[in-house]
Amino acid sequence: MTSISIDHLKSIKASGNKFAAITAYDYSFAKLIDKAEIEVTLVGDSLGNVIQGQKTTIPVTLDEMAYHTKNVARGIQSSLVLSDMPFMSYATVSQALDNAAILMQAGAQMVKLEGGEWLAETVYALTQRGIPVCSHLGLTPQSVHKLSGFKVQGKDENGADKILAEAKILEQAGADLLVVECIPSSLGKELTSALEIPVIGIGAGADTDGQVLVLQDMLGISYSAPKFSKNFLEQSSNIQNALSTYRKEVLSRAFPEPKHEF
Ligand code: KIV
Repeated sequence: MTSISIDHLKSIKASGNKFAAITAYDYSFAKLIDKAEIEVTLVGDSLGNVIQGQKTTIPVTLDEMAYHTKNVARGIQSSLVLSDMPFMSYATVSQALDNAAILMQAGAQMVKLEGGEWLAETVYALTQRGIPVCSHLGLTPQSVHKLSGFKVQGKDENGADKILAEAKILEQAGADLLVVECIPSSLGKELTSALEIPVIGIGAGADTDGQVLVLQDMLGISYSAPKFSKNFLEQSSNIQNALSTYRKEVLSRAFPEPKHEF
């Protein structure tokens, strides 16, 4: 399998096909994910929850993200390695440039930033300097306290319009990918057709270009699996098969089902 590039993901979108993404935090799982030909491997700050046992992603540090990014990158040959910039590591443009450089040097091929319009200048600055950016809208876990909890976003017309408008601004600023989390599936569909860049959903319905899940959720070993996830290990003989089945079901549109949607 050849290395997955941004152009490759864009061509999947242009041809109306789907792709899969999943989180990873270490070398061994990264190798299994790569072997399953999953297109995008996200070193998520969800490691705060599933690796460290924290209640939120807020305590995760840049050093920890760089450490896990290095370990994952060593196990990947083809999948595109995307790393989360942790809480408050991109509060200013200059902080974002310095800290994104650390993740890129650790092996990331793209960085992910949670937030909307206020990040347009940062997205522009990063991408102009050769650092690809994935924006993250909808439920943004680093803002959990400001959002008053882990809640579905964009449920009313105003909320949906705001997410749509911010997505367009971020695309215009140079974002190459968009992750949308916990939004109504109708909004997931609208965003996907309104944007030229690929849209990856998690709890955003079946119509986004790609799907992403947290590894521990899809293996059924997380403390409390969210409604939008599915235990793929239950129907598989081993972890390698579960990962391959996940990708197969995303590409064939068997996953997500209506019961996984908002
Ligand atoms: O950190 C993470 O795992 C994420 C996904 C939920 C998209 O950002």
